[in-house]
Amino acid sequence: MVIYSYICHFMYMGMLLDTGNPPHTQLYEENMEIKINISDTIENNEVVELYKANNWSAANKPDKLLNALRNSHTLVTARVSGKLIGIANAISDNYLVVYYPHLLVHPEYRRNGAGKQMMNVLKEKYTGFHQQMLTADSAAIEFYKAMGFEKAGNTVPMWVYDGNDH
Ligand SMILES: CC(C)(COP(=O)(O)OP(=O)(O)OC[C@H]1O[C@@H](n2cnc3c(N)ncnc32)[C@H](O)[C@@H]1OP(=O)(O)O)[C@@H](O)C(=O)NCCC(=O)NCCS
Repeated sequence: MVIYSYICHFMYMGMLLDTGNPPHTQLYEENMEIKINISDTIENNEVVELYKANNWSAANKPDKLLNALRNSHTLVTARVSGKLIGIANAISDNYLVVYYPHLLVHPEYRRNGAGKQMMNVLKEKYTGFHQQMLTADSAAIEFYKAMGFEKAGNTVPMWVYDGNDH
């Protein structure tokens, strides 16, 4: 089993202490380990919880969602203390083209490097492929630019979609 472990520092806003003096905010720093895994076992409940936290409509089709993720060419997970906080997947012909359908990080754990680490695992695995494709939601465009993706020439994403979240 291949496990990529990364340490990241989370800064937590501390409690507002009532000492009789003017109130102040104290910062607590805690080391948290984000574990990135490409051979993880995922459970239905934790996946649905993660997708619901992101308001992704695939959460309404849990059986299909879990089958889809488990049948991915590559499935990457991110966990903090065992809690599933991120998922990324790839579907591919194994030689020329790879498509990255899903990448999401729980809202409470964003901007701590989990998305970047999962994406880097995928990009490394598919290095040299003729096309690494994805459809970027507007809020994620800057993230993907930071990951080295660019607008796909003059192409326009097109789909037949059964969701209501875009
Ligand atoms: C997009 C997403 C996966 C990024 O995950 P993340 O763990 O928060 O991202 P990271 O902390 O690894 O960010 C890496 C870099 O990407 C860039 N980045 C990430 N989120 C960004 C944002 N909202 N705006 C601008 N830049 C952003 C930054 O350069 C960041 O580095 P920095 O934190 O040192 O500045 C996460 O925001 C998410 O789950 N969004 C909702 C679902 C989604 O839109 N998924 C994409 C599918 S279309």
